[in-house]
Amino acid sequence: MIKTDISNAVTFLDEAALNDAKKKAEIAFEKVKDKSGAGSEWLGWRSILSEPNDAELEEISSFASEIRQKADVFIVAGIGGSYTGAMALIRALTPQFGRMGPEIIYAGHHMSGRYLSELLDYLDNPKEDGSAKEVYLNVISKSGSTLETALAFRTLRSWIHSKFEDAKNRIIATTGHSGGVLNKIIAEEGYKKYVIPDDVGGRFSVLTPVGLLPVSVAGIDIQTLFYGAVSEFEKNEEDASEVLEYAAARYLFHEKNYAIDVIGSFEPELLGFTAWVQQLIGESEGKEGMGLFPALAGYSTDLHSVGQLVQEGRRNILETLLVVDKPISNLKVTEGSEDNVDGLDYLTGKLYHKINKSAQEGTVQAHTAGGVPVIKIQLEMLNAQQLGQLIYFYELFTAVYVYMLGVNPFNQPGVEDYKQAMYTLLGKG
Ligand code: PA5
Repeated sequence: MIKTDISNAVTFLDEAALNDAKKKAEIAFEKVKDKSGAGSEWLGWRSILSEPNDAELEEISSFASEIRQKADVFIVAGIGGSYTGAMALIRALTPQFGRMGPEIIYAGHHMSGRYLSELLDYLDNPKEDGSAKEVYLNVISKSGSTLETALAFRTLRSWIHSKFEDAKNRIIATTGHSGGVLNKIIAEEGYKKYVIPDDVGGRFSVLTPVGLLPVSVAGIDIQTLFYGAVSEFEKNEEDASEVLEYAAARYLFHEKNYAIDVIGSFEPELLGFTAWVQQLIGESEGKEGMGLFPALAGYSTDLHSVGQLVQEGRRNILETLLVVDKPISNLKVTEGSEDNVDGLDYLTGKLYHKINKSAQEGTVQAHTAGGVPVIKIQLEMLNAQQLGQLIYFYELFTAVYVYMLGVNPFNQPGVEDYKQAMYTLLGKG
């Protein structure tokens, strides 16, 4: 189960204020439960866990294993909530080098012509044995009209149709029930379709086919992942104290005009996950003049870049660390040369995990002493079950915390502004 440790943040807060904020968090949680808050028609990320659709999980797993057998490359085309979750899980749960199964490539998450043309070149290049790459494409867009994804889909779809006679079987679309251009294309071409439930918004959709198909193709056990989330859901229906304490603390820092939440981890595998958290919280709270900017930090790497600013810069920073208690690897520091020429003998035989932990705890001490409150979100181990738990933990946290701010967590009206300006410049009718 996911644990919250606010011991390095409470010293910056008033105890009575924290108790009041916890009560406020409880009220916000009631709004989530009884669907009385703003945007309550978007709470489907809870109902998918209270009533799991085992048949769908089973179907996705078996279809994904077919693709795993056939594909050399599996392209995930989506942006925002339509790809961040899959990317986070694949990065966290599959080997960093030489992963078995299809190569997963992301597209449709920006509009770089260079990226797309290099991708086409790469797809065109045969394999070492001279045969053509077997390419499959999963386009993911709830609205079916997001420009970044729609453009990449047009180009990649046409490439697939030009290369493969069975193109229709290589394109899978994940989108809303009905409406939208993508549904029109699916109907015309007969592509396989997965449905994103109406009541689940993009950034809350990782446990629907949006995330489940790509992560299953990458070889992750989606039943374990999904039921990890179910267990966290059930636990929080009984006792949500860890989530509520976290929401209360962050709410108070927001009230104290803190401006930035540095969301980081000492586990590089979790950096995709911090990006998922960044989008989830940022797009949910950043409206009506509210919100802490969720900045990302990959430690200890970034202690050598933004670490100086966190330690001694403007004191408006909160830090949230995703922490893993048990080692991911049992690698130990090997013996050096006899004369201890590199001066590292004091570390001989130590687990890298322990050394990394010392860096983490040293950083927490230094940042706290330097005036930066640190909140730790703790996983016992890095595995599919615990990441499923962490997904629901953060979804619930986001809903509760943003309700405490008094805004709707589930919409993103501001995203339209850049689109309107861009469409005008592009001369869209
Ligand atoms: O959280 C959200 O709703 C957004 O980030 C969307 O996921 C993103 O804009 C992509 O939208 P769509 O899936 O409609 O292409």
